[in-house]
Amino acid sequence: MSFSLSGALKSLTCAAALSCCAISFAQADTLRVGTEATFAPFEFAAEDGSLTGFDVEIMQAIGKEIGYDVEIVNMPFDGLIPAIMTAQLDAIIAAMSITPERAKRVAFSDPYYTSGLSVLIREETAAKYPKVDSLKGQPLCVQIGTTGAMTAEKLSPGKVKAFNTEPEAFMELKARGCEGVVNDRPINLYFLAQSNASEGITELPEILTAEQYGIATHLHNKELQAKINEGLAKIRANGTYDKIYQKWFKLAPTDKE
Ligand code: ARG
Repeated sequence: MSFSLSGALKSLTCAAALSCCAISFAQADTLRVGTEATFAPFEFAAEDGSLTGFDVEIMQAIGKEIGYDVEIVNMPFDGLIPAIMTAQLDAIIAAMSITPERAKRVAFSDPYYTSGLSVLIREETAAKYPKVDSLKGQPLCVQIGTTGAMTAEKLSPGKVKAFNTEPEAFMELKARGCEGVVNDRPINLYFLAQSNASEGITELPEILTAEQYGIATHLHNKELQAKINEGLAKIRANGTYDKIYQKWFKLAPTDKE
């Protein structure tokens, strides 16, 4: 086998390029921001197919403050953190709760929304399941990789049906494939407000956890994390955050357009 200088040089250049970019993070004008868009009102597809919601608008507003265009990329929820770790995404905005486990793999911005989990059941089972504890050991539906999935697994070990999207979990509950859906409360409330889709579904009155959403970036991209925090602080100070919040949370879903 003959030694090829150009081949060796190529792979050296390649390795250098890779290590350069892995450490210094390319400076592009556009931030690639991942989400999982079945989570209304935070991220979902509008009728024309475009992605919209509270998170999408917050991220665009932050981008504007810090001088970046924002490209929202839709992917499975459990693929988001791996995509940051392999630098396929610059950031994640996906109603993602800041947890100690996730914080070992990605960096989080300052919290931008306070949330918590609640449980939906079918009205027909309301007498049987007056509180969350009474659902222990029952089959529960969740979205894969979420804090709802982790909490459901504690309530009903080995009896959790995990779906790629949240609407599939809701549908399975309606179809009597499980006895409860454990999910973020604002999404449950938005779903309940859509009277057609949620007919026969009700919420248990307990809030199971206190969670805060953060925007995730690569663990070592301190610069972007700082910029995002700066943008977030600015939109909080100049009223943009409040305007977006008002639009998505203070109006009934049907009134919003
Ligand atoms: N807040 C929950 C979590 O961090 C659920 C987030 C799901 N987000 C989504 N876009 N589907 O696990």
